[in-house]
Amino acid sequence: MGSVLDTRLGPADWERLTSTDLAGAACVVFDILRATSTAVTALAHGARALLPVGTLEEAVALHRQHPEWLLAGERGGLRPGPESTGGVAFHLGNSPREFTQERVQDRTIVFTTTNGSRALHACRHAPAVLAGALLNLTATVEAVRALRPDRVLLICAGTGPDPALEDVLAAGAFIELWSRANLESHLTDAASVAWRAWRGAGADLSGALQHSANARRLLALPELHDDVAWCLQHDRFRLTAWLDPDTDALIARPAPAGPHPPAPR
Ligand code: MLT
Repeated sequence: MGSVLDTRLGPADWERLTSTDLAGAACVVFDILRATSTAVTALAHGARALLPVGTLEEAVALHRQHPEWLLAGERGGLRPGPESTGGVAFHLGNSPREFTQERVQDRTIVFTTTNGSRALHACRHAPAVLAGALLNLTATVEAVRALRPDRVLLICAGTGPDPALEDVLAAGAFIELWSRANLESHLTDAASVAWRAWRGAGADLSGALQHSANARRLLALPELHDDVAWCLQHDRFRLTAWLDPDTDALIARPAPAGPHPPAPR
């Protein structure tokens, strides 16, 4: 008996996960523009852990208890200003290019974003939760495959209250890689939507991703423009980002060893 592949296409679907039984499920959260791409980049550059939290207040309170931790995240795409944090300065925004080795190596980072960190939080009671990105897609597929879960739940974080095209396409790319390995599996209708969207994008996946509303928003901001190209890189990193059940923080694990299916375009 293979795995069931299911998808939550946007916030209206994943917000309910807090009260859903996730026994036997491996959850992969995609917020590729940009929260999960940023988390994967930070871990690849040596961050010790990223603690996703839902609100600015929680982030600031944690930082008060642990002043040595870095504060990172965004509201409206930008680093939260002191007017929204009670005067506390955030060290980093949500641009993956800020999370260089110099800035994050061996650091614990409290991370709060509009959707991505909340989506991770919503499924944290599942037995396995990963942050997925195109940056580490093949490694993520292999890690989930090695778990042999009953159910794979691909969670598209979206933007504000809405689904986001790039997250649905990333879920579709995950399903494509999974099926190239000839794994016995069953797709729910929502998973088929993601897979067919990915296949429909065909030879112009990059074009489709770049025309998403989120990409266009970032491309219009000179300081964030280059984030899009960064986040759309395929398999730059061979590591996986897991929510540690003891600490609720994302930590890095190396990708499983073994033969790798070819990356999607
Ligand atoms: C989010 O978590 O909602 C996004 O990553 C927003 C962003 O692009 O900064």
